[in-house]
Amino acid sequence: MADAIQDEQEQVPPAAVQERINILTQELDRHNFLYHTLDSPEISDEAFDVMLRELRELEAAWPSLRKPWSPTLRIGAQLLENLPKKAHRSKMYSLDNVFSLEEWREFYARMQRSFEQPLPCKFFCDPKLDGLAVELVYIDGVLEEALTRGDGTTGEVITEACRTIATVPLKLQGQAPKLICVRGEVVMYKQAFAELNATQAALNRKEFANPRNAAAGSLRQLDLSVLKERKLHFLAYSLGQVEWGTVEPVTQHSVLMEQFKSYGFLTPPMGQLCANVSDVEAYLHKLEPLREQFPMEIDGCVIKLDDLEAQAALGFTARAPRFAVAFKYPTKAQETRLERIEVQVGRTGVLTPVAILQPVQVGGVTVQRATLHNATEIAQKDLRVGDYVLVQRAGEVIPEVVAPVLEKRSADLVPYVFPKTCPACGSPVFQEEGQTVIRCENVACPAVRSQKLCYFVSKAGLDVQGFGEKWVLQLIDKGLLTSPADFFTLTLPDLLQADRMGELLGSKLLDALATAKTSVSLKQLITALGILHVGPQTAQTLAEHFTDLDALQAATSESLQQLADVGPQVAQSIVHFFGTPANRELVARFKEVGLWPTSASTENTAKSAEAHSQLHAKTILFTGTLSFPRNVAERYATNAGAIVLSSVSKRLNYLVVGAKAGSKLTKAQALGVKILDEQTFLAMIREAGVDVEESPKMQNKLIDL
Ligand code: IVH
Repeated sequence: MADAIQDEQEQVPPAAVQERINILTQELDRHNFLYHTLDSPEISDEAFDVMLRELRELEAAWPSLRKPWSPTLRIGAQLLENLPKKAHRSKMYSLDNVFSLEEWREFYARMQRSFEQPLPCKFFCDPKLDGLAVELVYIDGVLEEALTRGDGTTGEVITEACRTIATVPLKLQGQAPKLICVRGEVVMYKQAFAELNATQAALNRKEFANPRNAAAGSLRQLDLSVLKERKLHFLAYSLGQVEWGTVEPVTQHSVLMEQFKSYGFLTPPMGQLCANVSDVEAYLHKLEPLREQFPMEIDGCVIKLDDLEAQAALGFTARAPRFAVAFKYPTKAQETRLERIEVQVGRTGVLTPVAILQPVQVGGVTVQRATLHNATEIAQKDLRVGDYVLVQRAGEVIPEVVAPVLEKRSADLVPYVFPKTCPACGSPVFQEEGQTVIRCENVACPAVRSQKLCYFVSKAGLDVQGFGEKWVLQLIDKGLLTSPADFFTLTLPDLLQADRMGELLGSKLLDALATAKTSVSLKQLITALGILHVGPQTAQTLAEHFTDLDALQAATSESLQQLADVGPQVAQSIVHFFGTPANRELVARFKEVGLWPTSASTENTAKSAEAHSQLHAKTILFTGTLSFPRNVAERYATNAGAIVLSSVSKRLNYLVVGAKAGSKLTKAQALGVKILDEQTFLAMIREAGVDVEESPKMQNKLIDL
């Protein structure tokens, strides 16, 4: 079955895949620029790697979709405009990443296959430094110039800046080759980074996100006297072009590293020659717990074939060497304090506890809030306000509190008691028997209403540019917004009542609303209504079958059930929604104000809600016993824009694992497929705006993020 899908897809790539590739390309380009050029990243390296890897896999599966400008072909940073540029004597490559021993073994097997003779098995391993790659060019032993990696072909000239770095030898010690390009990393040690940020804070200047950004920002800064105080270091780890002259050529990487030391360079700590693959793996294990103890940031291990001739024979792909790879360690959970627990009320009335944490860096991103899922989860983990807790980023994105650090618990902390009344309206909360979800059932609850209104114009809904929660909540407070239709009768004086709203912004919001009014598709409008169980996928089906909201509200449960992916529960929910007088009135008002898309305009959708789902255009598969039926899980996934596969293959993005998972899990792990537990999957589903139904089988598992 999977093979059949694969063959079909290779001939005509599905539109969803094409779209996913476009989204990934755009996002990667944007983050690349933020990270390398502006030194101001918004996401962790790990999250970037995950996207890059997904794009690479999609392109491998559908090679016709790889664009010549794909980020998978890019090597390093884009160039800054204000520094002179120069071509490298030979290209400066990046490294491919592996994330598990299985992936490393695959890389090794590939290396062996590409090498015609038996592969010399010695490897040189050293820590992967998290700094800025730089090439230093020495002619007759004297530093001639220094270049950043730039785009790999051309770098920025930073010779004078590098001369300020004490660990850059201006002249090589001993007998030097005629020309040697020494490549390495400019880093800022953790201690210096902490001091620099303390100074920045004291001077009211922007702090750096991490030592890498501090190093990069410092190097590009043109005032050399400031730079000199920044205490950067250069550590050498590889060779660019070389003309040995009268010096005996080096043939092994391990010897080269010794040579670098004898020239006067620092090299990465703990570099080691490994005699074979199992030695490499022992090294990987040894390095992992030691990473924290190094003075500089280490984000992995670089494994390089030791024999330089074999390196040359294996050569490079467009982006990276075939003879070396970076092994990335998983992000470690970090410890911080649970300051308080906030209970949020979602648009469906579900109460979600959120941990408010003392800010902590997890994988390069500052985390201050994390979902606690539900009351049962808090009780099971016995999390208490005031506890030290371990925080990690689940599914790479959503921060999660893993457990309390019991050894650090102070004796006066008491178990958390979930509120018995809605924090927004004070109504008693309701928990159905056998379920973990706790709801406010007050239809007039102001929090539910506000959340519904926020959702209506959010990205998942009508996607009205700029109309964020900040404005919606204020307009609700001022009594200017009570129903979704009210958005379209707002005037500039209305908007100006909001704090910090100016005429320019107000006009922009009105323009955005006017644009939305004429350009939203029927599918978007149906999604934005937030009908229980109707996510973007079902909305699409409905929009394809009904010409407008009038036609949809006239539909019977039976006629709705004729449609693909509409079962009795979904049909009943739709009928119930349109049977409610207030909702019928709302539809009439939409017509009145001119918000009236018809299915003919569905194609005009500029951005769909599912484009904002993490699962959009991703492939997914379920295994093991979930606490809800498999077909329900599959419907959630498709509603969030995912493609459900029937077996594990390399093109599978996510495997959702329930209890007693068997061979699918083992195979997926071997292929490096991302594994999700049920909680994380549901969190992603909710985030995509898909409603999770409350069948009695779904014990303990509902999350409203
Ligand atoms: S060896 C052909 N060793 O990480 C490239 N690179 O993310 C051989 N890096 O491009 C490079 N630590 O700039 C090597 N110990 C180390 C490294 C290292 C950091 C950099 C390097 C590479 C980048 C990939």
